[in-house]
Amino acid sequence: MTNPDPAPVLDLIHAFRRSKTMFAAASMGIFDLLHEAPADAAAIAARLQTNGDATGRLLDACAALGLLHKRAGLYENDPVADTYLRAASPQTLYGYVRYSDAALYPMWAHLDDAIREGTHRWTQTFGLQGPLFNAFFRTDEAMRDFLRGMHGFGMLTSPKVVAAFDLSRFVRIVDLGSATGHLVIAACERYPQLRGAIFDLPRVTPMAREEVSRSEARDRIEVLAGDFFEDELPAADLYSVGQILHDWNETQIDRLLARIFEGLPPGGGLLVAEKLLAEDGVGPVPANMQSLGMLICTEGKERSLSEYRRILRRAGFAQVEGRRTGVPLDAILAVKGLATPPAEAE
Ligand SMILES: C[S@@+](CC[C@H](N)C(=O)[O-])C[C@H]1O[C@@H](n2cnc3c(N)ncnc32)[C@H](O)[C@@H]1O
Repeated sequence: MTNPDPAPVLDLIHAFRRSKTMFAAASMGIFDLLHEAPADAAAIAARLQTNGDATGRLLDACAALGLLHKRAGLYENDPVADTYLRAASPQTLYGYVRYSDAALYPMWAHLDDAIREGTHRWTQTFGLQGPLFNAFFRTDEAMRDFLRGMHGFGMLTSPKVVAAFDLSRFVRIVDLGSATGHLVIAACERYPQLRGAIFDLPRVTPMAREEVSRSEARDRIEVLAGDFFEDELPAADLYSVGQILHDWNETQIDRLLARIFEGLPPGGGLLVAEKLLAEDGVGPVPANMQSLGMLICTEGKERSLSEYRRILRRAGFAQVEGRRTGVPLDAILAVKGLATPPAEAE
């Protein structure tokens, strides 16, 4: 009997090394240096004050991964690295790389403990307790990395999420837990009749103001600070929550959805942006990885469309429709009926 091909196992043995190679190169600023001019390993090592041989190996590994090109001993950025891994690029994913390197990578080292206990790893890894987002925002630098990460990711996803449904009947969108506000920005840029508000914790809003000021729709967007569990929600006929429901347990989700439902007029909507799991829970792989990721760093998880439909109907929403977008976040639109029906029995 011949043995099965070991390729999937060998690939997964090596997978984390590829991620960490990219994280180290980006965190050390290699793609920023090479944006200035192509350079050899000795010049990069001198600029970074690193070991020459080790730096050469890292650069060769990045070239083998397709992030750099090496010609006559000089390295230069591939366009993919220049666009997404350079801190100053407008489309940068540098913040997401930094957050992955500094927070997720050490916390994922404790995945087996998370599986045993069913809880996040902020305490085990960093000694942090207390409100979840105090951990994400444990230093100003960590907060900026996280928010820039959300922004880079949102630039890829929000234009598709707001295009997944025709939102032209709505007049005011309020995005709860907006980070930099990329979803409201994308919505207001796409729908000229729409006015919008970004709503996030007070520490976050200065970065949101910076991003809004760059948008052509800035005159239609307000930036508001508040706590979506405690403070009165700003009035809207369309609320949105992007990667919010997956952060919290069902009791907290029910509380937030009840507040949103209460705040909407009849016919009002809730746009949800999340990765949708397949109905049997298997795949797409990024959704399964994100669900384990949520175990590692939050109180939540990823869900299938049926699971979202169940919790949204329980909150009172009459119609719930889901759309796959082809980008890393999918879209759900839940609509409050014209006459509020009783919540469905479980
Ligand atoms: C996972 S991020 C999602 C950000 C954004 N919606 C996106 O998709 O990029 C969660 C966001 O919720 C915000 N947040 C957490 N707790 C909050 C609360 N109680 N009230 C308002 N915003 C909150 C955080 O500051 C953070 O910006």
